[in-house]
Amino acid sequence: MFYNAAMELDRDLNVALVRGLFPPAPVARRGWEMLAATGVRGLRLVGETDAFERYDFHERSPAAFAVLERNVHESGHAGLVTHLGDSRQSVEERAFDYVDLDPFGTPEPFVNSALRALRPGGVLAVTATDMPVLAGVARGVCERRYGGRPIRGSQGPEGGLRILLAYLIREGARRSVELEPVLSYLHDHYVRVFLKSRTAPSENAADALMGDPSESGDAGPEISGSGPFGPMWLGPLFEGRLLARLEVPATAQRPAELRKLLDRLREESTVERPFYYEPNTLASELHLSEPPPLAPLLAGLRARGFAAARSHVRPSAFRTSAPRSVVQDAAQGLRPRS
Ligand SMILES: C[S@@+](CC[C@H](N)C(=O)[O-])C[C@H]1O[C@@H](n2cnc3c(N)ncnc32)[C@H](O)[C@@H]1O
Repeated sequence: MFYNAAMELDRDLNVALVRGLFPPAPVARRGWEMLAATGVRGLRLVGETDAFERYDFHERSPAAFAVLERNVHESGHAGLVTHLGDSRQSVEERAFDYVDLDPFGTPEPFVNSALRALRPGGVLAVTATDMPVLAGVARGVCERRYGGRPIRGSQGPEGGLRILLAYLIREGARRSVELEPVLSYLHDHYVRVFLKSRTAPSENAADALMGDPSESGDAGPEISGSGPFGPMWLGPLFEGRLLARLEVPATAQRPAELRKLLDRLREESTVERPFYYEPNTLASELHLSEPPPLAPLLAGLRARGFAAARSHVRPSAFRTSAPRSVVQDAAQGLRPRS
């Protein structure tokens, strides 16, 4: 049965986030796990938060469903409802405050149903594990599936995250569901995003934040390969105020790792710039004999009046509000003296 210990941290974060998004309140909230497998994720969200009065699980595989039913029964929680079958065949329109779409591979076949099921003000959680597609190995598939041209190379995974966000935001807009990313992150083999639907329409802000990162010139890191790329979501990946109030739950299975990840995401959310720099790539671009040390580089950018923060995407990746020429200048200045 589907159970992957490496997903513990991912689910810990999901619990922390649902607690932050849905604090205890005298309202009857409903959650829906469209692809439940054996229910591990949903059961944690129900058991470790006070977010939901009712939580529905759909699972198509009879073998997984049998385990799901047993797990739900053994959990002893009230308000849990299980459904055997294709979740797309029984969408309850605008019924859910939280819809979780966690497929093997692409979420694309389920997005329409997920959006129809979401209540105004609700939160949509989406995983995509088709990273080769999103990160540029299968460019044609990415264009057909997500309507965006991917980046191949080191910026490919973040490009994929931003293509997925752009796709979901556009699909929402087509159905008058205005979505805003509240937390988006990248792991080796998947991306996961949480988007909140607005209750009041904004002034079309999303369109202004879609684009091709290679058109930003000196403003951001070099994007390798030949464009055009995207359209991608070039706006914030996180809602800083939400991140600020997330806590490590007492029930977390990997509390130290979750604390580290939350700290990193909070730091990262202070610099809302798409794409990241790495000391290694700077060294090869600038023909330095070794990568500039990260901490002095960040300090140097801050001393020049720019924001700079490490990113969760890679251990030595960082984002900055400084133009590329300033980043290069700061890196050059840290060259070892011979
Ligand atoms: C990645 S697993 C879900 C994992 C689960 N969310 C968790 O965190 O433990 C995807 C599941 O979706 C189920 N599935 C695939 N297509 C489905 C459909 N159309 N309706 C319902 N379930 C489906 C598969 O059988 C599989 O168990």
